[in-house]
Amino acid sequence: MGSILDRFKEEREERKETAAGKKVKVGIIGTGWIAEAHVANYLQCEDVEIVAAADLIPGKAEAFCKANGIEGIRLYPDHKSMIDAEELDAVSVCTYNKTHAECTIYALEHGVNVLLEKPMCVTLEEAVAICKAEKASGKILSIGFQPRFDPNMKMLKKIVQSGELGKIYYIQTGGGRRRGIPTPYGTSFIEEKTAGLGALGDIGCYSLDMVLNAIGYPKPLSVSGYTSAFFGTDPAYYPNHPEYADVFTVDDFAAAFIRLEGGIVLDFRISWAMNLDTPGDTIILGTKGGLRVPSTECWNGSIGGPLKIYKTVAGEEIEYEVDMKHDDVDNFYKKIRLFIDAVKEGGAAPVPSSQIIYNQAIIDGIAKSARLGREITLEIPEI
Ligand SMILES: NC(=O)c1ccc[n+]([C@@H]2O[C@H](COP(=O)([O-])OP(=O)(O)OC[C@H]3O[C@@H](n4cnc5c(N)ncnc54)[C@H](O)[C@@H]3O)[C@@H](O)[C@H]2O)c1
Repeated sequence: MGSILDRFKEEREERKETAAGKKVKVGIIGTGWIAEAHVANYLQCEDVEIVAAADLIPGKAEAFCKANGIEGIRLYPDHKSMIDAEELDAVSVCTYNKTHAECTIYALEHGVNVLLEKPMCVTLEEAVAICKAEKASGKILSIGFQPRFDPNMKMLKKIVQSGELGKIYYIQTGGGRRRGIPTPYGTSFIEEKTAGLGALGDIGCYSLDMVLNAIGYPKPLSVSGYTSAFFGTDPAYYPNHPEYADVFTVDDFAAAFIRLEGGIVLDFRISWAMNLDTPGDTIILGTKGGLRVPSTECWNGSIGGPLKIYKTVAGEEIEYEVDMKHDDVDNFYKKIRLFIDAVKEGGAAPVPSSQIIYNQAIIDGIAKSARLGREITLEIPEI
């Protein structure tokens, strides 16, 4: 008995030594808004050293480092020069969506593990290229969906996976804001040349991940999509910046009907701006039970109230609520920590591209279907 406990202790000590002795060298690509959260959470990991940062805008990385307590690290004018010059173990890709693919592929091709911000990228073609680069590299690629680590989101998945609802056949999901086009730091979210996609990519990816992750990410087969931009293109929307309306070249609302493998249909809508408070609850219908997720701010991982389950028991129609769950660990910290653990231990990516490629296929399919004005079949190659 004693020897078993001692062996456990030895293993723990060995791990501690590795953690203390060999720090994971991290570089930050893109020093904008979300990079702050990456840096703040890496700084909480004793076994991580942020050694470099890169940004296309002259002087931006320097000011960022000063403001975020990492002055003195090496700075570069783009991702390539940083990856070429440094011996990095990992990078955080915190650039706007349009450069996600090129930064991620370059890092993987140079043997660097990647934590890539959401959405994975802009098009399905880019997602395929990213997955191929990941496979060829043998490195870890994790996509930045921190809401997944919320205990209520985990509970949602556990309920579905337990079989309590029976076979799932219909899902309604979505989220959004009455007024909430994201322009606090300028126009990178609303210009096609930087964002590539509007609400559809920015927050639509979260709503999709919430339900697709719960049901085990079945392959999407076809999409009939709609997008619009009635608010973003109206100068009256921005009293302080009417000129933003001229550069608004993405969607501010999207809706779609999606067919998934296994005979499941998904009814989806997402909004940065609309004349309504919320696009409604998420509902998951199964042959043995139904689940209601009260309207959620899908982007921050919270749910709008207790999950509610509807069943027939002993011939009676009953409903019950699932207690809300809490833990003290920040979801963003979990995303960073689990990525670093996977890099150190060679484990599976916490949020694998093999799932998120389906999320991207749906988003890209909605954009393409909306442009064509008809349903399209999704062709997703095996990687
Ligand atoms: N997970 C979350 O909660 C969350 C929240 C906000 C944003 N995001 C995502 O993070 C990403 C960045 O958003 P943001 O608000 O920080 O954008 P931002 O526009 O504030 O910053 C992006 C920065 O990337 C730089 N950049 C672009 N291409 C580059 C390259 N090749 N090399 C070096 N620098 C490059 C730009 O110059 C810019 O400074 C987006 O994809 C967004 O969807 C995630």
